[in-house]
Amino acid sequence: MPVLEVKNLHCSFKVQAQRLLGKQRKKIIEGVSFSIHRADTVGILGESGSGKSTIARCIAGLLLPDNGHIFFNGLNIFPDTDNRKKIKRKIQMLFQNHTASLNPRMPVKQSLLEALNYQEVSSQIRGNNGTRIQEVLDSTGLSPDILKRYPRQLSGGQRQRVALARSLLARPELLILDEPTSALDILTQVQILRLIKKLQEEKGFSLLYITHDVASALEICDRIIVLYRGKIVEEAESSRLMNEPRHPYTKRLLNASGLLEPAK
Ligand SMILES: Nc1ncnc2c1ncn2[C@@H]1O[C@H](COP(=O)(O)OP(=O)(O)OP(=O)(O)O)[C@@H](O)[C@H]1O
Ligand SMILES: [Mg+2]
Repeated sequence: MPVLEVKNLHCSFKVQAQRLLGKQRKKIIEGVSFSIHRADTVGILGESGSGKSTIARCIAGLLLPDNGHIFFNGLNIFPDTDNRKKIKRKIQMLFQNHTASLNPRMPVKQSLLEALNYQEVSSQIRGNNGTRIQEVLDSTGLSPDILKRYPRQLSGGQRQRVALARSLLARPELLILDEPTSALDILTQVQILRLIKKLQEEKGFSLLYITHDVASALEICDRIIVLYRGKIVEEAESSRLMNEPRHPYTKRLLNASGLLEPAK
């Protein structure tokens, strides 16, 4: 059974049309379906505005779709939103803007403790708070002296590691990465993505990696979904997508990244 199954997802937003017409609904996601298996990494690749974050927010329960079904380990979490409470901590999300996931007025230690308490993990699984925090600091490569610092006293890379540490405290089964490194320099980006892949190998969670960066998607994903204007235009194993892209839009993306020889 897949960890996540998304079936025929539709999502729209109210937007102001022309002045006299009032508000209208603009379709953003139209009939998206895919699934993710345990310990797999699936990528959603598409240009800015194609609807990637909208899909992520629907899965994470931050946004209600108009239509469709979302299953988590076979449990219907949309439209049966009552079930979401039961699995809430098991889906964690890292955002592009890491300042969004950390409270600027809270030292790191308090942010981490808050995550532990909020996650409603039973104390048996949770173990001793101090030990759990030490464990996640070790696994995210952070030194204990950052615990008393505030987010503004950290580098972008450190902030993203703290955000990662916070989500690991919930012991997620699915980690959604919404362009988690696009605000960082290239070396830090690579380090953080490698760290996440290493943690995935150790802990066995599944990853949904959202990006417009073809090269990093090809590097870390088992399978890639190509999204264009709210619809999936192609879905394939990364190697197949790289060597034999079928949809013209996929070819264009690969081309633009210098990964495909332009047709003569
Ligand atoms: N709350 C909202 N109200 C109205 N329109 C929205 C809202 N959120 C997103 N949109 C619109 O939905 C479309 C898809 O947005 P989304 O953020 O999902 O794109 P994206 O693929 O994540 O882009 P990016 O790569 O720039 O992050 C865009 O046209 C955006 O303007
Ligand atoms: Mg986005």
